[in-house]
Amino acid sequence: MYANFAGCSKFNGKVNWLKMSWWQNGVIYQVYPRSFFDSNDDGMGDLSGVTEKLPYLKKLGVDAIWLSPFYPSPLHDGGYDVANPRDVAPELGGLQSFDQLSKKAKECNIKIIVDLVPNHFSKEHPWFKQALLSEPNSDARRLFHFRDGKGNAGQFPPNNWISLFGGPAWTRVVEADGKPGQWYLHIFDASQPDLNWSNSQIRSDFKETINFWLNRGVSGFRIDVAVGLIKDMSYQDDPEPQLRVDAMRLDLYDPENPQRSDEIRKWAKDSPLFDRDEVHQIYQEWRELFKDRSDDVFAVAEAWAYPVERAMAYAKSLGQVFNFDFMIVPFKSATLSQTINQLIAAANEYQTFPTWVLSNHDVSRIVTRLGGGELGRAKARAMATLTHFLPGSIYVYQGEELGLPDANIAPELRLDPIWEKSGHTQIGRDGCRAPIPWNSKLPNRGFSKASKTWLPSPADWVVEDVPTQEADPSSTLWLYRKLINLRKSHQLWQVPIDQVSASVNGHLLVVWRAQLGVCLVNTGDQPIAFEMPCPMQVLVQSNQLKVEMDEKAISVPGNTAIILEKVSTKT
Ligand code: BGC
Repeated sequence: MYANFAGCSKFNGKVNWLKMSWWQNGVIYQVYPRSFFDSNDDGMGDLSGVTEKLPYLKKLGVDAIWLSPFYPSPLHDGGYDVANPRDVAPELGGLQSFDQLSKKAKECNIKIIVDLVPNHFSKEHPWFKQALLSEPNSDARRLFHFRDGKGNAGQFPPNNWISLFGGPAWTRVVEADGKPGQWYLHIFDASQPDLNWSNSQIRSDFKETINFWLNRGVSGFRIDVAVGLIKDMSYQDDPEPQLRVDAMRLDLYDPENPQRSDEIRKWAKDSPLFDRDEVHQIYQEWRELFKDRSDDVFAVAEAWAYPVERAMAYAKSLGQVFNFDFMIVPFKSATLSQTINQLIAAANEYQTFPTWVLSNHDVSRIVTRLGGGELGRAKARAMATLTHFLPGSIYVYQGEELGLPDANIAPELRLDPIWEKSGHTQIGRDGCRAPIPWNSKLPNRGFSKASKTWLPSPADWVVEDVPTQEADPSSTLWLYRKLINLRKSHQLWQVPIDQVSASVNGHLLVVWRAQLGVCLVNTGDQPIAFEMPCPMQVLVQSNQLKVEMDEKAISVPGNTAIILEKVSTKT
C-alpha cells in the first residue's frame, strides 16, 4: 500500500532550504490587540499588554507576531477601519508603545508583522473628511470612488454592487449645501470608504506607510483584502452582484461538495470588484521596497481567489498567501488528504511554501467549528498536530494554543457590523474575539481590571485559563509548545515539499514526509491499526489516550493524531 514511500531510504531534494527565509517556515502568532491583554485597565487590550506577555509568547516558541490593526480607529469594524495608518491608537498606547514592543520583541527574538489595510480608510481619515467637504470631481474626491447617482435626482446608487457586509456598496453623502449629493463606494461597512488605486497619490501614500513601519523595524505585512484594490472603473452594473459576494464567503464553501463549491467560486472570476490583474503591479512595487531592505521582509496576502493559480499569483507577487482551506475542511480523512495534496502540489508548482491556518479573527474558532466540547477540542488538537507536521509556515490565532472555543456574546454586546447589517441573521465574529482568559480567578479572567471591557469574557464560557494549563502537561498549551518546539528540534520544515504526500486508509489519514516519518490522524471514533514499514517511535501524540504499539504496528485511537519518527534516520 505504501510501496512508493521514499521514507526508509535517502532522497535528493530539489529545494535548498538553507536559502529559505524565516517566514517560509515560521510559526506566526496572530495577536488581536484589543482582546489580548489590557495593561492599563481601561477595558481594552493594548500594545504594552502585548509587551507584558512577550515571555509567554517566547515560551510558546513563536517566530513572529502579527498584530491585527492597532491604528486610531472609530471601531466600526474591529479596527479594520483605519483613521491613520501611520500611528497607534492612543488607547492602545500610541507610537511609543509600539517602539517599546518592537524593542522588547527583538530582545526575545520575536519578529513583528503589521496589518496593512489598503482597500479602504475609515470615514474618520482626514482625506475622507476633506472629500466630504469638497466639490464633486475635486481632487479630494478622486482619492475615493465618488459617483453621481442614477435617477432624475441622483437618488439611486450608481450601480447595483453589493457590500460584503450586506446591503448596497454605495452610500449617499450630504453636500455642503445641505442637499443629498454624490455616492461613495464601500465594499465593507459604510464607515470604510474604498480607496481609488488608480490615483497615484494613494500609491505613494501607501509606500510611505510601508516605509514608515519598515523604519520602525517590522519584518512584514499582512495585506488585508489583497484582492480588492482595483475596481472596474466603468462602474457598470454587475449581472450577478449577489453571486460575487457569495464567492467571497468562506462559510458557503463545502470541501465535500467540490462541484457546488466550484459553482459558487466561479463567480470570483472576472469580478468588477475582486482579483483584477492590475492589482499585482501594486504588489510587485511593494515587493521591491521589501527587497531593498532584505529578503527577510515579506507580506502575506489575505486573498480569496479562484482557481488556485489566481491565489498563488499573490504569493508570487507578495511572498505568501494564506491558504484558508484548513479553516473549512471537515475532520474527515479523505477530505483532509485531498486538501493537503492540493495545497502541497500548488505550492510546489508555483515554487512557494504553503501556509496553514486553523483559526483567525474572522471565523469560528477551530474547537467550535469541529463541534465544540471535549470532542471538538480533541479534533482541534489532532488538527494542530497534523498542521505542525506540514512544511511551510503556520499561523496560530491567539487563544488557539489554549484550545479556546468561541464565546457566546450576548446580542446587545455584539460589536461586529455583520450582526446588524445582516438583519441579525448572521451572528458575526465577536465570539472568536473575546478577551484571552489569562487567569479565571481574576475579574474578566485576568484580561483587565476594568469594570467593563470592550468585549466581555462571558461567565458561561467554558475555558481553561493559562495557570491551569501551565500546571497540566496534558493541556493544549503544552501540546502547542511541544509541537512548535518539535518543528525546530526536528527541523520539520526541512523537506522538499514534493516529498510530502497524504493518503487514506478508511478513517486514517497518513501523511508521509520522506526521510523524517509520518503523521497519522484517526478521524473516526474507533482505534485503527497501522503497519509501520520500518522501525518508528512516537514523537508526539495529540492526547493522552493509551496507544498499543510494537515494532511492526501501532494502533491509533479515535480522534487522535500521532507523529512517528523513523528510528533509522537518527544515524
Ligand atoms: C479582515 C476583516 C475585516 C475586513 C474589512 C478583512 O478581511 O480580516 O476582519 O472586516 O477585512 O477590512
